Amino acid sequence: MTEKEIIGRMSLPEKIALCEGDGLWRTLAMPRYSLPAAMMCDGPHGLRIQDSSWHAHVHQSAPATCFPAAAALGCSWDTRLVEEVGRAVCEEARAAGVALILGPGLNIKRNPLCGRNFEYFSEDPYLSGKLAAAFVRGGQSTGVGCCLKHFAANSQEYKRFSSDSVMDERTLREIYLAGFEIAVRESRPRAVMCSYNKLNGVHASDSRFLLMDILRQEWGFDGLAMSDWGGMNDRVAAFQAGCDLNMPGGSRYQQKKARQAVREGVLREADVDACAGRVIRFALDAAEIPKTPCDFTAHHELAVRAAEESAVLLKNNGALPIRGSACLMGDMAHAMRYQGSGSSHVHPTRLIQPSDCLDWPYVQGYLPGGGTTDAYLAEAVSLAKTVETPVIFAGLPDTSESEGVDRPHMCLPPGEERLIEAVAAVNPRTVVVLLCGGAVETSWLEKVNALLYMALPGQAGGQAAVNLLTGKANPSGRLAETWPLQYSDVVSAPYYGQRDAEYREGVFVGYRYYDSAGIPVRFPFGHGLSYTRFAYSGLTVEPDGACVTVENTGEQAGAEVVMLYICPPQGGIARPVRELKGFQKVFLRPGERAELRFPLDERSFALWAGGWKVAQGRYVVEAGGLRTEVERDGCALLPEPAYDWYKTLSGTPSHKDWERLLGRTFASVPPEKGQFTMDHTLADIKEDSFFLRNLYRVMEEVIAWQCGGNRDDPAYKMMLSSATDCALRSMAICAGMRESLFEGLLDIANGQRLRGLGKLIRLW
Ligand code: BGC
Repeated sequence: MTEKEIIGRMSLPEKIALCEGDGLWRTLAMPRYSLPAAMMCDGPHGLRIQDSSWHAHVHQSAPATCFPAAAALGCSWDTRLVEEVGRAVCEEARAAGVALILGPGLNIKRNPLCGRNFEYFSEDPYLSGKLAAAFVRGGQSTGVGCCLKHFAANSQEYKRFSSDSVMDERTLREIYLAGFEIAVRESRPRAVMCSYNKLNGVHASDSRFLLMDILRQEWGFDGLAMSDWGGMNDRVAAFQAGCDLNMPGGSRYQQKKARQAVREGVLREADVDACAGRVIRFALDAAEIPKTPCDFTAHHELAVRAAEESAVLLKNNGALPIRGSACLMGDMAHAMRYQGSGSSHVHPTRLIQPSDCLDWPYVQGYLPGGGTTDAYLAEAVSLAKTVETPVIFAGLPDTSESEGVDRPHMCLPPGEERLIEAVAAVNPRTVVVLLCGGAVETSWLEKVNALLYMALPGQAGGQAAVNLLTGKANPSGRLAETWPLQYSDVVSAPYYGQRDAEYREGVFVGYRYYDSAGIPVRFPFGHGLSYTRFAYSGLTVEPDGACVTVENTGEQAGAEVVMLYICPPQGGIARPVRELKGFQKVFLRPGERAELRFPLDERSFALWAGGWKVAQGRYVVEAGGLRTEVERDGCALLPEPAYDWYKTLSGTPSHKDWERLLGRTFASVPPEKGQFTMDHTLADIKEDSFFLRNLYRVMEEVIAWQCGGNRDDPAYKMMLSSATDCALRSMAICAGMRESLFEGLLDIANGQRLRGLGKLIRLW
C-alpha cells in the first residue's frame, strides 16, 4: 500500500497514535496496514542502542565504535573525514537494524560553559553547517537516515526544557539558523529534531515559524520533524506547525487533546494527515534498508585517523615531536576522557589508553576527578627531573561535561593545575595534552613548552595522541571555537545561564565578537600548529569566487586548513569585522603546492535585514594572512540607529540596548505560586508544594538507586536534572503519568487545595 492509501484507510485516532513513538526508540507498527516500526538511536559520534528502557541506564548500551565527539571532529575542518565518520556510524546502525541516527547536533557554541558544547561542532554556523552536511551525506549514503538536532537556538543546558531563547531575527538567521540551513539544503537529512527550549516565547515543537515557514517552505525540507524526548509542548499546535512525531511514546493525554481539537474544528484533519503521511513515508523507507554486517576493525582504524586529524597543536616551543627520553603523568594517561556524558554516550568496541601504547615511566600525579596530594606532586616532580620531556595528560572530569548540566566555570580541576605548575617549574620541556570537549582557562600556558588539544577523541584517542606526540602523525586540527584568556572575557558571561536566555550580544558570538571588539584571546578561532610550515601566495578574487595557492615549505608531509574570510564594509549596520565563508583542508608533501578555489555567491556577502541583502561596497577577502578586495553591487543599507553597545562593542550589552535591537521589551518571569503551569518543573515548584517536594525526594532516591547509589555518577546528575528540571508536561509524556495527576498537584501548589485534592481523589 502507498502512503496515501494507508492514510485513506486509517481512522483519526490511528493517525494521531501513529504520530507518537512506541516506547523510547520506535515508531508504532500497524500490522493491519503492513506498516512496520522504524527504529532510531542516538548516534552523533557512535551508535547508542540502549539495552534497557530505564532512562538512568543511558550509559548502558550495546558496543559500537566511539568516534571523536563533534567537539573534536569540528577541529578537523575536514568534510571528507566527517563524511567517512557519518558513513561508518550509519553502517553500524544498518547492521543493527536502526533506520535513523539522532545526530549530528549542530547548535552554536555561544558560551564555553554550555554542558553540551562537546556534542556540537563550532561557534561558527558556516563550519557547523558544512560539517553537519558532510556527516549526513556520508551517513545517508548507507540508506540509514540522519537527524539534525536541536532545532533551534539551544545553547544552554540550564532549564533546557523550559527556557526561552530570546533574540532578534537577524541574530537568529545569521548565527543560530544558518548552519541548519546549509545542512538541510546541501544534504537533505531525513529528519530534524526540535529543541526543548522556546524561541521568542514559542516552544520549538509548536513553532510554525520555525518548522513550517522556515524549515519546510523556505528551505524545502520534506523529511520527518520530531520532538526531542519529552519535548512536545502542545500536540495541537505541533500538528499545525508540522511537527510530525512526538517522541517517545506514552502521552495518551496529548492524543486525546488532538482528537478533541479535530472534533471541535480547532485542528484540521488535513494537518494530522500531513504529519501521519510523513511518519508512514519514514517507516516504509526504513523497511527498505537492508541489514548488512559492518567492519568494526576498519571503523576502529578510522577512529584513530579521525582523532589524529582532529587534534590541535596549540603551542610548541620545540618539545614536540618527542625524540629523547620522556615520561607519562596524570590519571588521564591511563584513564583518558574520550567522550561526554548523556544521550551521546557510546559503549566503545575497544578502548586504547595513551599508556597502552608506550612503555615510558608513569606517575599518576592526581586522583580521578582532579584532586591531588603533596606526595603525588613530589613523586611527579622527581620523575620530571630524570627525563627530557614529561608529558602530562590533563582534562575536565566526566561530571563537568554532560547533557543537562552546564559547567560552573572554565578551569581545570585545581589538582591538575598544581601538577602542571609543579612539573613545569622543574622541567621547561613539559608537554600538556588536554582531554576536554571545550575551551578551558590555561593560566599556566607560559610555563609549559607545548600544548596538544585532543578534545574528546573517542575510543582510539590514546593511540592518536601517542602518534602525534612521537611524530608518527602530524597535527592538522584547527580550533573551531575561540579560547578566551579567561571566562570573564566571554561577551555573554555576565548574563549567561539564566532561566531565560537573553541573546543580547546579537551576532557578536565567538570570533565575531573578539575580532570586532579587539579583545585579546588565548587562542583564536582557526588556530592550530603543525610540524611543517605552509606559505600562501596568489590570492585573487572575482565576484563569484576566490583562489589562493598554498605550499608546504617545511620538511614533513602535513595538512593545512585554508580558511577564507570576508570582511564587510563597516560604518552602517553593525557587522562583525570578518566572517568565515570558505575552507578546505589539503594534504601536501614537502615542496608540494595546491591552488584552491572557493566559490562565493550572494549569501557569502549578505546579511539579514528583513531578507538576505548585500550592501554595496568594497569587501576585503582574507586567506592565510593575505588580503585583497572586491567591489559588490547591492543596496545601500540604512545605517543602524545608535544602539550604544553594538556600535562600540565596549563592556557588556545592556538590557536596554538589547531591547532596542529586539524592537520590544522583555522581562523573564520567574515562576510564582499561583502561576505554576505544566511548563514549570518539580525543581521550580517543590518549595511551594508538600506533594511535589516529596515527589522530588522520591525521584532523587529512585535515580540514585538506578545508578547503584553513586551520586557522583554523571548519569545520576544528568538524569536528576532531566527528571526534576523538565517541564511537568515532559514528565507526563516520558513517564506516562496522567495529566490530571499533575493538574491536581499543580492546583494544590498554586494554593487551590480543595480543587486539587478533588482532582486527585477522582483519579482513584
Ligand atoms: C536529547 C537528544 C537525544 C534524546 C534521545 C534527549 O534528552 O536531548 O539529543 O537524542 O534525548 O536520547
